[in-house]
Amino acid sequence: MKTIDLRSDTVTLQPKEMIEAMADAEVGDDVYREDPTINRLEEKAAKLTGKPAAMFVLSGVMGNQLAIRSQTHHGDAALVGANSHLYTHETGAIAAFSGVLPVPCSNVDDCIYPEDIEAHTEGPDIHVPPITLLCMENALGNGTVVPLELMKADYAMAKERGWNVHLDGARLFNAALALGKTPAEIAHYTDTVSFCLSKGLSAPVGSILAGPKETIEKARRYRKMIGGGIRQGGYLAAAGIYALDHMVDRLREDHENAKYLADGLSKIPGIELELDKVQINMVFFKINVPNYDAKSLRKYLQKNGVVTLPPEHGQYRFVTHYGITKDDCDTVIRLIKEYLASKK
Ligand SMILES: Cc1ncc(COP(=O)(O)O)c(C=O)c1O
Repeated sequence: MKTIDLRSDTVTLQPKEMIEAMADAEVGDDVYREDPTINRLEEKAAKLTGKPAAMFVLSGVMGNQLAIRSQTHHGDAALVGANSHLYTHETGAIAAFSGVLPVPCSNVDDCIYPEDIEAHTEGPDIHVPPITLLCMENALGNGTVVPLELMKADYAMAKERGWNVHLDGARLFNAALALGKTPAEIAHYTDTVSFCLSKGLSAPVGSILAGPKETIEKARRYRKMIGGGIRQGGYLAAAGIYALDHMVDRLREDHENAKYLADGLSKIPGIELELDKVQINMVFFKINVPNYDAKSLRKYLQKNGVVTLPPEHGQYRFVTHYGITKDDCDTVIRLIKEYLASKK
């Protein structure tokens, strides 16, 4: 029986051709900047994001936190989304690693608005740490995308205040696809941007941090400080190059499958799902059926090869990715329909 793992696109496995590209990679010592494959990936990533420089890092968390560290001083504050990954899911590194106070903006749609920036613009006050950085996220962790007009307005306001701007673009290519824009068009409204080569792009490891040359050089030193110098990392970078060359257009399938899955689930009595919120490869929904039990549903799905996370605050998140097909979506829809019908 095939396993249909809907927990996250982080579970995505690698295509055979990607592994072959890794095995064939030309490598050197990247700490001496002598790994030709890493150098090639970094040049490619800089071009794709329209930034002067880029650096290969081991994870999305590493990219975000190096961006924060390189653009703030100990004791500064940063405006962040209240549900953003870099605030809620990165082990408090913003405070622990950078000594920065996160100031969360809380909106139902998880976007940050010019009004939030306005509301947090105090004059110099000895009691208050100065905000020096705005952190955006696109695509958002709630499966929607931030319109470019909003990013543009936020960026302009941040710049008026002399702040730096970082974009957590872990799923930048998903956002680009959903918005019908290029990654560079999105990254135009940020100073630094991180994106993941893993997740939907299917590399086993790796992210990129791109931005101004001086900031990336600073980040390179901080990366070394935390043991992120990667020697013959070209084997990993080769997977990243393969991902950028061959896996970007494929994300369209994940988005289509997410819409297909959402459409099928939304037709099941008792499922509450907002179809217009399915904008990338994530489907969020609630189940409102008397006698239904989340634990036994998960067990039933697992027994039938479908792996899911428990609901958070009553909300399920199913993620489509490389290896999940339309037929798999049909299987999931059928299983949930059968299970809920048995509870009537
Ligand atoms: C929005 C967002 N940012 C950052 C990350 C961190 O990426 P990584 O797991 O590569 O550290 C994730 C991981 O899922 C994410 O969803």
